[in-house]
Amino acid sequence: MGSLQRVVVVYGATGTQGRAVALSLLKSRQNFTVRALTRNPESENAQELAKLGAEVVKADGFNDDSMKAALTGAWGFWLNTHHHDPSVTTPGGPTDEDLGRRLVTIAAQAGVKVFIYSTCESPDKFTNGKAPVPGMDAKHRVELFAREFKEFDSVIGAFPGWYFENLITPIYAQSFGGFPLYPDAEGFLTFTSPLVGGEGKVQTVSIADDFGEMVHGMFLNPEKWKNQTIQCLSEAFTYEDMVKTFTEGKLCNIPSICLTFETLQNMLIIYIVTGKKARYVPMASYMDFPTHDNTVLIELRDVFRYTQHNNGQFFGNADNVITCQHLKDEARRDKGLPQEPVISMRDYLINHYGNKV
Ligand SMILES: NC(=O)c1ccc[n+]([C@@H]2O[C@H](COP(=O)([O-])OP(=O)(O)OC[C@H]3O[C@@H](n4cnc5c(N)ncnc54)[C@H](OP(=O)(O)O)[C@@H]3O)[C@@H](O)[C@H]2O)c1
Repeated sequence: MGSLQRVVVVYGATGTQGRAVALSLLKSRQNFTVRALTRNPESENAQELAKLGAEVVKADGFNDDSMKAALTGAWGFWLNTHHHDPSVTTPGGPTDEDLGRRLVTIAAQAGVKVFIYSTCESPDKFTNGKAPVPGMDAKHRVELFAREFKEFDSVIGAFPGWYFENLITPIYAQSFGGFPLYPDAEGFLTFTSPLVGGEGKVQTVSIADDFGEMVHGMFLNPEKWKNQTIQCLSEAFTYEDMVKTFTEGKLCNIPSICLTFETLQNMLIIYIVTGKKARYVPMASYMDFPTHDNTVLIELRDVFRYTQHNNGQFFGNADNVITCQHLKDEARRDKGLPQEPVISMRDYLINHYGNKV
């Protein structure tokens, strides 16, 4: 990488994925200018990015002029559209795919060279039409559409697994039986869901801990990753292991953060995860998953149907954490930070729910 100043536009920079991407790129030692897009530059998250050195620009994905202006002079473009946003789920209105295709076209016309898109593989293709997931299939089509533009030097798909952040989000806890926040009538923190299929492992990524650095790693070497759909994974684990780990009251592995010099003195601290009663209760069928006519929950039911049809492989193919670790390593090297493993389920639970005794 040379010393040329390069502008990377981050769409959705105030949101979960975009913020993680922007925060990592802002610490890069390349000459990146992070242009953070938002509809509301006054918001707390936008102001935080501005303080950290981002060029915060007001733009709306549905306003072509504002997007053209925001993308002018940009070298890189991170795009993540929220496909459950009411603006793309209103019957008769534009779809997430329409929005994605339009933004891709505007980016190509504006001269963007490196386009990285928050994408999915196609459940429809992987199951020969038996278990489509319309929102995922649509994102896959947008990625393929982008690859057709000769204007881009590199198009890369970043495919996030299930967020670890769902485990700290009340609405998700409520949708899966209460775990890890709300005890049931018998006093258990119960996680209930349809079976995943295959080995029963759920492919999970911490957006804040790992995903931003993985995407940062892609921007560092776009030629290497071009035309690939890259799974973004921190750890795959079963729900049985998750509730068991959450409950553990014995000495746990010292979390990786304890292995730094500053905290060596704390090595004797005993970490318990929570000691709270938790259990996993599988549902007999994906059709038992309550959807309450909610588009997110309907999609989740479809995802369980898909993974059951696809041997538990959410990413379509076998898990590949090696590439994820490599991308994270590259980003951390670029930031001058020590190497660190992608976060484990155990460490995530300890960080958010654990106790020191
Ligand atoms: N939860 C999971 O486990 C999971 C796993 C994989 C993939 N996903 C997918 O991830 C996507 C959601 O991403 P996220 O979690 O990062 O969402 P998020 O936290 O809700 O952020 C969405 C961002 O998009 C921006 N935005 C919304 N409408 C816009 C518009 N018209 N113009 C410009 N910016 C707009 C918002 O910025 P401003 O309000 O500041 O403008 C906001 O920062 C969904 O498609 C979801 O299915 C989720």
